[in-house]
Amino acid sequence: MRNYLITGGAGFIGSNFVRYLLDRYDDIRVVVFDKLTYAGNLDNLLDVQDDPRYRFVRGDICDKEAVARAIQEHEIDTIVNFAAETHVDRSIVDPDAFIQTDVYGTYVLLEAARQFHLERYHQISTDEVYGDVPPGRSSTETDPVAPRSPYAASKASADLMVLAYHTTYGLPITITRGANNIGPYQYPEKVVPLFTTNAIDDLPLPVYGDGRQMRDYQYVLDHCEAIDLVLQRGRIGEIYNVGTGQEMENIKMVEILLDELGKPRSLIQHVEDRPGHDRRYSLDVSKLKALGWQPRHTHEEAIRKTVRWYVENEWWWRKIRNGEFQEYYRRQYGQRRVLR
Ligand code: NAD
Ligand code: TYD
Repeated sequence: MRNYLITGGAGFIGSNFVRYLLDRYDDIRVVVFDKLTYAGNLDNLLDVQDDPRYRFVRGDICDKEAVARAIQEHEIDTIVNFAAETHVDRSIVDPDAFIQTDVYGTYVLLEAARQFHLERYHQISTDEVYGDVPPGRSSTETDPVAPRSPYAASKASADLMVLAYHTTYGLPITITRGANNIGPYQYPEKVVPLFTTNAIDDLPLPVYGDGRQMRDYQYVLDHCEAIDLVLQRGRIGEIYNVGTGQEMENIKMVEILLDELGKPRSLIQHVEDRPGHDRRYSLDVSKLKALGWQPRHTHEEAIRKTVRWYVENEWWWRKIRNGEFQEYYRRQYGQRRVLR
């Protein structure tokens, strides 16, 4: 029997990972530990809430006592840390919570993992720690980190601390660095759900700059499968990149999304770019593939499947878009210069 503490498990990827674990394993207990920030949402876990193998604890990863209590009460042996502030645009406006949760919170979890001699601490990281990747290159796990946004810098700092705990204290850690995830339950501030829900309502899609920036849009369950594989078969102390290994221009992603919805290209509106916008991310995923992993979805399949989920699940995103989101949207896009 494994006892997992899934921090940030009420967010997008965390909730998909919880569902994935409960579907896949019988001999498992899963405790979600989540602060329920604007991005945390128990609707994401509605379909598992009555599962006897699942528990929810509301708590902040920066709170040492609350973390220790959860580990002791639930006899946790493994932490998988998804908890983070995650949106680049919000980190540009106000980095404070990013430093608190992504850096200090990770340290609190590492200390707890050390104190209670956990069997594994797994950190969910991102391709953004490598910074902008020039054409013709792909990031490998041994590349130096070169983050360029406050979000990416907070995640890179966390990774360095995780690695230091392995080197200094022998803590059994692993790290996965994922490319952009898309799929069910992603908060609609991120580009694919934002554009899908805007397009459903015939609102403009605010494409930053020329829209030729490149991202590796992977399906969230492919990422979950990779995390699980690294937990089972990854080498302690190692980092694994997770993505399809291909990139796509944002504008291409937008065209697929509009075509899937049957909406016109005239909804595309080029607006003032994000400051410090990384032009391209690109991951070399051969190390993960050597463990026996393959992504199950191409970009196009992932985009189309995601769009269909949002079409079929208005109950989930309407509530969000009618709440705090409206104020965020006005702040983020209200004054933004339209280019064409
Ligand atoms: P998300 O914003 O949807 O969810 C984050 C969750 O963390 C929320 O449930 C929130 O309530 C919780 N949380 C935030 N601060 C907390 C705190 N102090 N204590 C406890 N819980 C807290 O994020 P996501 O997109 O699911 O990302 C999950 C992880 O994966 C993050 O670490 C992120 O950096 C990483 N990641 C995301 C992507 C992506 O494309 N979304 C890609 C690569 C890596
Ligand atoms: P996002 O989903 O914020 O993820 P990240 O910045 O972590 O990669 O953005 C994905 C890409 O989409 C990125 O190149 C920025 C771009 N983008 C837009 O063009 N318009 C938008 O309104 C948003 C939110 C993002």
